[in-house]
Amino acid sequence: MNIVLMGYMGSGKSLIGRDLASKLKLEYLDLDDYIENQEKKSIFKIFEEHGEIYFRKKETFYLKTVLDTFENTIISLGGGTPCFVGNLEAIKEKENAKSLYLHTSLDELTRRLFAERSKRPLISHLNTQEELKDFVRKHLFERSFYYNQADYKISTDQKDANQISEESIAALF
Ligand code: S3P
Repeated sequence: MNIVLMGYMGSGKSLIGRDLASKLKLEYLDLDDYIENQEKKSIFKIFEEHGEIYFRKKETFYLKTVLDTFENTIISLGGGTPCFVGNLEAIKEKENAKSLYLHTSLDELTRRLFAERSKRPLISHLNTQEELKDFVRKHLFERSFYYNQADYKISTDQKDANQISEESIAALF
């Protein structure tokens, strides 16, 4: 069985993914890290040198590779992964994969992302908290349609990593 974590940038997919993997004694794979290793380039550089469409094609290719080849693994997706052509379907049609959406409020996402926006190509150009919040509000609205199709949904606000992992385990098993 694989467990696929989805959610907006800053929702804690990597942190919770690692914690879940250690609690459940499963392997852990971060799709962004996997892409960076395979392409030998940071996500930021891929966006900068080739643009978003190129990145999305690579993301779809590596998502499918990972779903076909890994077992007993917690897989953290990139924030946009389930929202681009065919990716959600590829996840949903895998009988050995359960998906979990980590839901985080707009205020909390804005707070977390403002401090680390320079590392993220989609939001690095936003200069104020207000601009970032407006961007995230709209983006999250568009993406929620996809995230809400996950098998399970956990709200992360006002919870620490341990609580989120324990709730996730209770939902998944
Ligand atoms: C993206 C999120 C990033 C990364 C890329 C695009 C997105 O992953 O895949 O910068 O479209 O939301 P994280 O959610 O891990 O930051």
